[in-house]
Amino acid sequence: MRILFLGDVMGRAGRAAVQARLKGLRDDWALDFVVVNGENASSGAGLTAAHAKALLEAGADCLTLGDHAFDQKDMMSFIEQEPRIIRPLNYAKLAPGKGARLFTDARGRKVLVTQVLGQVFMKRPFDDPFSAIQPVLQSHPLGGMAQAILVDMHCEATSEKMAMGHWCDGRASLVVGTHTHVPTADTMILPGGTGYQTDAGMCGDYNSVIGMQKEEPMRRFITQMPGGRFEPAGGEATLSGVFVETDDRTGRATRIRMVRIGGRLEAAAP
Ligand SMILES: [Fe+2]
Ligand SMILES: [Fe+2]
Repeated sequence: MRILFLGDVMGRAGRAAVQARLKGLRDDWALDFVVVNGENASSGAGLTAAHAKALLEAGADCLTLGDHAFDQKDMMSFIEQEPRIIRPLNYAKLAPGKGARLFTDARGRKVLVTQVLGQVFMKRPFDDPFSAIQPVLQSHPLGGMAQAILVDMHCEATSEKMAMGHWCDGRASLVVGTHTHVPTADTMILPGGTGYQTDAGMCGDYNSVIGMQKEEPMRRFITQMPGGRFEPAGGEATLSGVFVETDDRTGRATRIRMVRIGGRLEAAAP
């Protein structure tokens, strides 16, 4: 199976890049399944129903969220109507939506998508992601119940993401980090066959501070004074993510490539 995962879509610039390029990539790379992290797609914080629909229409099969899952209030009800949106599995137990779901691709193959939040350096205390994901992986054996399993590990710390990669090694097709908006250069297949990259990077304008117009975050760092609003940077976005090819029989990754297209970070593609 040929799968593309795109990192956090940042504001209007990120949405525009996904809308401009994803359908072409689906055809050019013969993609079977596409996951897009949408947690910052609406003004840099959260995802509105309208923007979720736009990303799905642009070619995403599934949207994941993150710590900003419900920053846009209409997501609280929309996520119950749109099964293609996944919120973190270890979010508050009473939160709306689901943290894992089995999808079916155009050829009838089953793809499990799940997302967990890390605990290190996160603003709120979330439940332990390692024990949260355990029953999901146990009930969906890779190559059995699911032909592919994709894990979005949403957190700050590279160590915690790597630990999650190894925790899922051999049990997932891909573990990819999101949330930091900066792609890491450690794209690899782990010993048990799980594709891995510590962070996918963002679909946003890299002439910025992690996707925000750089002036206000710089001012806060330099003066330590609160003040103005953060606004997403509006220049051409780079589509950042990971392409992975899997074996349908085992569910394991056979090939993995970092993806960066357009904008300032343009680099590799499959
Ligand atoms: Fe993010
Ligand atoms: Fe986040």
